[in-house]
Amino acid sequence: MSHGLSRPRPTPGPTPPVRCPVHAQAVPLYKSVHRPDHALLWEELRARFGTVAPVEIRPGVPGWLLLGYHENLNVLRNPASFATDPARWRESREERQADRVHGAALAVDGERHRRMRAPIVEGLRALSGRRLTGAIKQTATSLIDRFATRGQADLIADYAVPLPAMVLNFLFGLDTRYGDLLARLCAARNGGDPDTAARAAADIHRYVTALVERRRAEPGDDFVSRLLAHPAGLTDDEVAAELTMLLRAGVQPTAHLVGNALRLLLTRSEVATAYRGAALPSVDFLDYVMWADPPLQTLAARYPTRDVRIGGADIKEGEALVLGFAPAHADPATRRGDRDAFDALVGNRAHLMWGAGPHGCPAQALACEIAITAIDTLIDRLDPVLDGTPDDLRWRASLSVHGLVSLPVTFRPEPAPAVPEQPAPRARRRLLPVRAGRPRAQGARYSAPGAAIEDTASRAASARHARVGTPTSRATGARYHVPAAEEARPDPLEGLLTRWG
Ligand code: HEM
Repeated sequence: MSHGLSRPRPTPGPTPPVRCPVHAQAVPLYKSVHRPDHALLWEELRARFGTVAPVEIRPGVPGWLLLGYHENLNVLRNPASFATDPARWRESREERQADRVHGAALAVDGERHRRMRAPIVEGLRALSGRRLTGAIKQTATSLIDRFATRGQADLIADYAVPLPAMVLNFLFGLDTRYGDLLARLCAARNGGDPDTAARAAADIHRYVTALVERRRAEPGDDFVSRLLAHPAGLTDDEVAAELTMLLRAGVQPTAHLVGNALRLLLTRSEVATAYRGAALPSVDFLDYVMWADPPLQTLAARYPTRDVRIGGADIKEGEALVLGFAPAHADPATRRGDRDAFDALVGNRAHLMWGAGPHGCPAQALACEIAITAIDTLIDRLDPVLDGTPDDLRWRASLSVHGLVSLPVTFRPEPAPAVPEQPAPRARRRLLPVRAGRPRAQGARYSAPGAAIEDTASRAASARHARVGTPTSRATGARYHVPAAEEARPDPLEGLLTRWG
């Protein structure tokens, strides 16, 4: 019997996309960010999929997570088959954003990569040595001075997080006021609040752009001047992209290498005893931390340059592969015995924390120097103990960075310095001469998405200044041309100091 209701007829509309049957079972990785047990997550994925798991990186954005040690290494070492340039990403063809800084070394391949990498490698090499170690020690000491009289500190926020940014600022040749500024900007960019993070990212771009402009005008014996003077002939925009990438690639992992190392020393007495007794050399200790507690868990991304089969999975050209450092270190194929067995791991250099292949981290020596100096300076001076139990410690809600939210410690407070510190004399306000426009970037094919906006804004600002300083109509008939007086404009770096001071 009919109820008078006709069957609903299918309404015409767009055909739903055909879903890849494998990605139909993709695990929404982003939903596991807040899980406290990421180690368990990797094991669940391995039990279900083997060495490569289909995942959703963000809602609706598919990818593959490499869980196997050999699969990760193989991808890293084969740049011809696995590119880093996000332009190769299927998704980016649909206007989706990649996390890499466009045009910088980490986002280009082949000859373009060699051109972008060489200045960084040579610049870092030129600046290593005793002067650098002295600067790291001095920076670490100045940070400890700020809390030594309190008898308690959070070694993440007060120490591990600001230190790497301050050291990089030193390499860039700027004074400590800018070191504090850069540390604040990086902490805000990596913090939880999206609005503050966006403002900080925009101001980091202003910091690097103004820094490059200053070094172009006044070269010195610093890393940025070396990048600018390198025979590769990088443009100002390219150097700014390199610096942005360097800050992104370097600051967080170094901070959490320091934090994770300090956690081990404060929570594992056998590790602390071996380290303090010099039975465990510093470099072996860092290798152990990077294997057992890698500061980077996963890292996006590589893009196959053709269809490939990895670990039994058929992966299409241009699909995103997420490198899985932490899962690789837990791969049963590489492990003998207990995951945390300290004795079995000392001297093990097999961790993938520096990457491998052509994009392998060029700053290993610098990162290790910062970490070892930071650890030794702190424990030699304060001999801190953990404030609470190891179970109270919380990891950051991130699948890429593996680091603590905080590391509270107590120690015997140092007496306050007898002579109160004099306030630093106010630096004279810097004014820059107005130029009619910045030199145009030559040859940069890609620039960071933010850079494009910034560039337009700063060009408009330059044009505004230029209009003030440039006569609007040409004087006719003048016998002698009097050059227009150069107008001054405030130094943008100083503007940032005011904003974040
Ligand atoms: C513990 C600290 C650090 C870790 C664990 C680390 C890890 C890595 C890894 C895994 C890569 C390769 C990424 C890939 O292949 O996709 C890399 C590349 C890179 N890192 Fe580091 N890094 C650290 C510190 C630093 C520091 C302090 C700097 C800068 C001063 C830095 C600058 C770079 C640069 C420029 C690249 C790109 C190289 C290229 O594409 O040729 N890193 N890093």
